[in-house]
Amino acid sequence: MTNILCIGAGYVGGSTMPVIASHCPEDRFVVVDINEARIAAWQSDQLPIYEPGLDEIVRQTRGRNLFFSTETNRHIAEADIIFVSVNTPTKTFGQGAGRAADLQYWEKTARQILENSTSSKIVVEKSTLPVRTAEAMERILNSNNKGLHFDVLSNPEFLAEGTAIQDMQKPNRVLIGGRETEPGQKAVARLVEMYAQWVPRDRIITTNLWSSELSKLVANAFLAQRISSINAISALCEKTEADINEVAYAIGHDERIGRYFLRASVGFGGSCFKKDILNLVYLCEHYGLPEVARYWEQVVTMNEYQEARFAANMVTSMFNTVAGKRIALFGAAFKANTNDTRESPALEVCRALLAEQADIVITDPHAMDNACYDLKELAARVTFEPDPYAAARNAHAIAILTEWQQFAQLDYERIHDSMVKPAFLFDGRNLLDHEKLYEIGFNVYPIGKPPLTRLVTYGFRNA
Ligand code: UDX
Ligand code: UDX
Repeated sequence: MTNILCIGAGYVGGSTMPVIASHCPEDRFVVVDINEARIAAWQSDQLPIYEPGLDEIVRQTRGRNLFFSTETNRHIAEADIIFVSVNTPTKTFGQGAGRAADLQYWEKTARQILENSTSSKIVVEKSTLPVRTAEAMERILNSNNKGLHFDVLSNPEFLAEGTAIQDMQKPNRVLIGGRETEPGQKAVARLVEMYAQWVPRDRIITTNLWSSELSKLVANAFLAQRISSINAISALCEKTEADINEVAYAIGHDERIGRYFLRASVGFGGSCFKKDILNLVYLCEHYGLPEVARYWEQVVTMNEYQEARFAANMVTSMFNTVAGKRIALFGAAFKANTNDTRESPALEVCRALLAEQADIVITDPHAMDNACYDLKELAARVTFEPDPYAAARNAHAIAILTEWQQFAQLDYERIHDSMVKPAFLFDGRNLLDHEKLYEIGFNVYPIGKPPLTRLVTYGFRNA
């Protein structure tokens, strides 16, 4: 039996460990966190994160070979392998503020591992970290006079929220980076063995430490770049009557381009894309590559432009003022099937409309608590309404900001009847049937397509 510990019971730790535990019944898994409330939630029936399939797998493994605890020090002492998935947010202070990764929790965790260890261990970086972080971690961990040896591996997470469990069950690849020394390779082999219990060998990629660390940042940068690229073209489509869905479909059929991640939207969100790109930008600057840094920074700039453009289009289309107008935001989560609102474009649009003194009501099937927390300083000016029909009642406009399927299934005729006329609908996810909405009577503003409106003077085309 191997004792496996995961430090950090957030989205990453909390959704990966139950899956690994389910496939490795011989091994014992403990997930620890400094946040007592979070651990209590992991031990209860109300898990702290919403992820399809997670409840079932936690129910199956918890108490069998998976345990949640706040006793980090004790479990460090017992562990053979330690995964570290504490958060690595963007630095808000000092050198590299706003771009570099804040590694204070990581370093603190490394020192805590060292302090409480009485045996040699494998330490696995699960959090996304700047390239060459492992070097600093190795130095700290191996600076001991207890005669202990620590192998640091990089095993970045590629799971996407909403499909995290599915992604872990059938990963398209598992990446493990390690030192090219004999103990380093032995540690890599041990982790490969663990994953090989359910992942085909040809999907387990092993590389050197730095390639693995960098690949994680690069994967997210490339994915985000595709969205910014299609969103940039969506702005051009709105000016030229080209249709972004048709363009995406046409170019996506070229196998070299591929059809995934070409959905134009109000913008990308989530805890990773922006943070990881800014981190990449900082690294490029650090290594004296300003042109490379500017190239990647533009992906984030384009995303901010898309969010701002969407909100500005709403104001322009609604006769240049939304002050005092009730506007229903359908969606707060950064994408469907998650309760996560980190960097959600929905909240950016919300803030922009509040700055225009709109009267905002938000509805979302799972992310209301998080949205309420994020917007707490503006709470007095936002209403949270679980029922989308009630949210839309007496509203001048609806903005679709998260692609929840529930929103596609609503009765828009009923909704239209209850709204102030002319009724506006801004579809930031191209989720709905725009022709049908237009027939019902809405003035419809999709992303990357000409608006369907009876108010052409105020539409995009004339903006
Ligand atoms: C985060 C980042 O978003 C991701 O980029 C990175 O790769 C891993 O960390 P996530 O799991 O989504 O992923 O973060 P979060 O939900 O904030 O969870 C981190 C957890 O670590 C929190 O529950 C926090 O309480 C815990 N933590 C943090 C510790 O247990 N100890 C610490 O010292 C610091
Ligand atoms: C991402 C990566 O996909 C994952 O591999 C990595 O481990 C963590 O970061 P995640 O942030 O959970 O995962 O969601 P993802 O599905 O990648 O979507 C990110 C954002 O892009 C969302 O706001 C989503 O709505 C948006 N998006 C995605 C688009 O706007 N258009 C698309 O075509 C795809």
